[in-house]
Amino acid sequence: MDTDTGTEPTPAVRLELDDIQSGALHERPSPYVGAYLLLRIDDRAAGRELVRRLRPLVDSGQPSSDPAHDAWITVAFTYHGLEALGVPQESLDSFAPEFREGMAARAADLGDVGESSPNNWEAPLGTPDVHVAIATLSPDRARLETVLERARRAHDELPGVEVIWHQDCYQLPTGRTSFGFKDGIGQPAVEGSGIPPTNPRERPLKAGEIILGYPDETGELPPMPAPEVLGRNGTYVVFRKLHTKVAAYRQYLRARAADRQDEALIGAKMVGRWQSGAPLARCPEVDDPDLGSDPARNNDFLYADHPRGFRCPAGAHARRANPRDALEAEGSVDVRLHRMIRRGTSYGPMLPEGVLDDDGADRGIVFVFAGAHLGRQFEFVKTQWLNDGIFIGAPAEKDPLIGANDGTGTFTIPQRPIRRRLSDVPPFVVTRGGEYCFAPGLRALRWLADLDT
Ligand code: HEM
Repeated sequence: MDTDTGTEPTPAVRLELDDIQSGALHERPSPYVGAYLLLRIDDRAAGRELVRRLRPLVDSGQPSSDPAHDAWITVAFTYHGLEALGVPQESLDSFAPEFREGMAARAADLGDVGESSPNNWEAPLGTPDVHVAIATLSPDRARLETVLERARRAHDELPGVEVIWHQDCYQLPTGRTSFGFKDGIGQPAVEGSGIPPTNPRERPLKAGEIILGYPDETGELPPMPAPEVLGRNGTYVVFRKLHTKVAAYRQYLRARAADRQDEALIGAKMVGRWQSGAPLARCPEVDDPDLGSDPARNNDFLYADHPRGFRCPAGAHARRANPRDALEAEGSVDVRLHRMIRRGTSYGPMLPEGVLDDDGADRGIVFVFAGAHLGRQFEFVKTQWLNDGIFIGAPAEKDPLIGANDGTGTFTIPQRPIRRRLSDVPPFVVTRGGEYCFAPGLRALRWLADLDT
């Protein structure tokens, strides 16, 4: 990783911000409330009419001068959705192979097996019925209702379009996710977006890592769906509804820890950050809530200065998901090719503090990825770094928090004089379903609405 610092240099390319959907480039508000809708298109003309009605509701990545303007809609399509709209076959064939196959078909590779396997997914996730995904996000319920009402008007009275799934999401009162951790901290900056990096030691990514139609980190234009009007300024989006077994997680920590302080420490070692968001790389022994809540400092760190993981274990979730400069010595892995924008949200009620028994409620995260490369970004990170430990010299270890664990794995916490090894790590996260989507640019939405084949 390049550790050049400072503000964004003059970008070599100018991002067409007014054509890019806002959700790919802009952080969600905090607090937030939102809803995800999935729709099926039964009638091609009705589907195109839906796109025509949605297009003016979708905000662009152009910064708005209106501070109240932070409720927005993102629209994306699955392969079957583009097919249902009548996108010509030669164009469908030009999309990334992972997208064409769909997430359910990739399940075995992604570690979606057993309880997480598509057979057990929530209907209709993972089926060819999922065509259109709409995400609405807003700082409060009143504004969300306004946005949802607009979305409703777009699909109401269109007999050939059916809403087939609805998932609410909202920020928990603690401002954290169900396991208790602050999230959404580690994000890459995108060259040309005008949004400064949160990690001053990581140069903004070339725009083509996230938005199609621009050179990426290799200096090349990434493969882009054809025709250009459809692919340009689009991005691939992954969404996964991930149920979190919070009671099981708390029980596991309680059984392994010497006391409450040790519980918090083990929890932090598994994530790479304390619940407050403070990174272990900067405060390995004791939480520093002020650091955790300070956006100017809480992402300002690297790992190569403690290669053996005495501060932050190499197997911790956040270090696996973004090893920063830790793999530079290996020379073969360019971490910048495996970065991603995350737009996850929380769903379901909080398990009250201190409760160790499962209350049966469904709670977790709707994980959302945005990037130009499904294969070398989302799938690579999930399969090579989260579900496998070869890259950190621990082939038997998976990500302790979200890896596809089966109750037999271990998690190693380097410490002196002897390392600590937690055994029998069970699965704490179950995949309830998800899909690979494509979020087109605004011009592309018009092109889709105007298709006449
Ligand atoms: C229920 C599932 C998940 C939970 C509870 C979770 C939780 C977290 C937490 C607490 C952090 C640290 C705070 C932050 O930087 O935002 C984090 C970071 C991160 N996670 Fe996850 N995560 C989940 C799933 C995933 C998945 C499926 C991926 C990718 C395939 C992923 C990729 C990342 C990345 C890239 C980071 C940022 C690392 C950095 O830049 O330091 N996470 N996650």
